[in-house]
Amino acid sequence: MNVKVLLSGGKRLVDHELSRYLPTKGKLARAMCYSVFAGGKRFRPLLCLATARALGCSEKRVLPYACAVELIHTFTLIHDDLPAMDDSDLRRGKPTSHKVYGEALAILAGDALNTLAFKVIADQPEAVKELSNALLEVVEGQVADVESAKLKTSLKELKAIHKWKTGALLKACVRGTARICQASSSKVKALTKYAEHLGLAFQIADDILDATATAKHLGKPVKADIKKGFPYLIGLERSKKMVAEEKKRALETLTVFGRQAELLRGIVDLYVLPK
Ligand code: IPE
Ligand code: IPE
Ligand code: MG
Ligand code: MG
Ligand code: MG
Repeated sequence: MNVKVLLSGGKRLVDHELSRYLPTKGKLARAMCYSVFAGGKRFRPLLCLATARALGCSEKRVLPYACAVELIHTFTLIHDDLPAMDDSDLRRGKPTSHKVYGEALAILAGDALNTLAFKVIADQPEAVKELSNALLEVVEGQVADVESAKLKTSLKELKAIHKWKTGALLKACVRGTARICQASSSKVKALTKYAEHLGLAFQIADDILDATATAKHLGKPVKADIKKGFPYLIGLERSKKMVAEEKKRALETLTVFGRQAELLRGIVDLYVLPK
């Protein structure tokens, strides 16, 4: 089947499963649902499903984990947009959580999504371990990201920030899924490399779009991180070359999976600066 069709089917599956986990009554539930169903790409859950496919493991088995990752991701976006952080008004094409519900409820909706994520996978300790380790790295990365606004960052430092704030969660997608699917250690290793290259490519691409795309297209403000991103540090052309290089290296790690890795390849081609 066509990769695009498989990915959009996966997205529907994830959206349906997410709606089963989210609460429906009350103010907090409304704020949680508002952000979760605001129209994200579901890139991370799709990465989990694509990993399961590469491992010959059923999608159903990893669906709760895929949803947990998206809940965590949405939580980090709500907090990332707060006035104390990136101070952003637009997310997923809609006003940000704090613009609609106020700062207090936005913070609390983030807290609740974070907690719900771990509740959903509480019976999968290996996955919990992967996800909690990753989230600690994400927060560490966000701390470094906030501080980088005041300092002059080197290329090495910016790579490290991107690895933490964005790469860690993508790595948890493949590694958590691999644990659930009881993948061999050599496959876990290959998938980890894949996600490391994908993560760096994805965040550099996000920086490039921040510098070059429109808010209408991205559904979030542009030039928000202009002085914190790759194009500012090394220029647009070099940044694009780095994305291409990281994408190529991500694809190279997939040889061991043969044709079963078609979705993991599709994700690299379609979600990171597609041609
Ligand atoms: C945005 O992630 C935050 C980054 C790490 C760049 P996405 O680009 O996946 O955003 P959504 O989930 O589609 O809104
Ligand atoms: C967000 O990075 C990373 C996390 C939310 C952990 P950005 O600040 O670059 O993401 P956008 O551009 O607001 O989506
Ligand atoms: Mg940020
Ligand atoms: Mg931001
Ligand atoms: Mg950004």
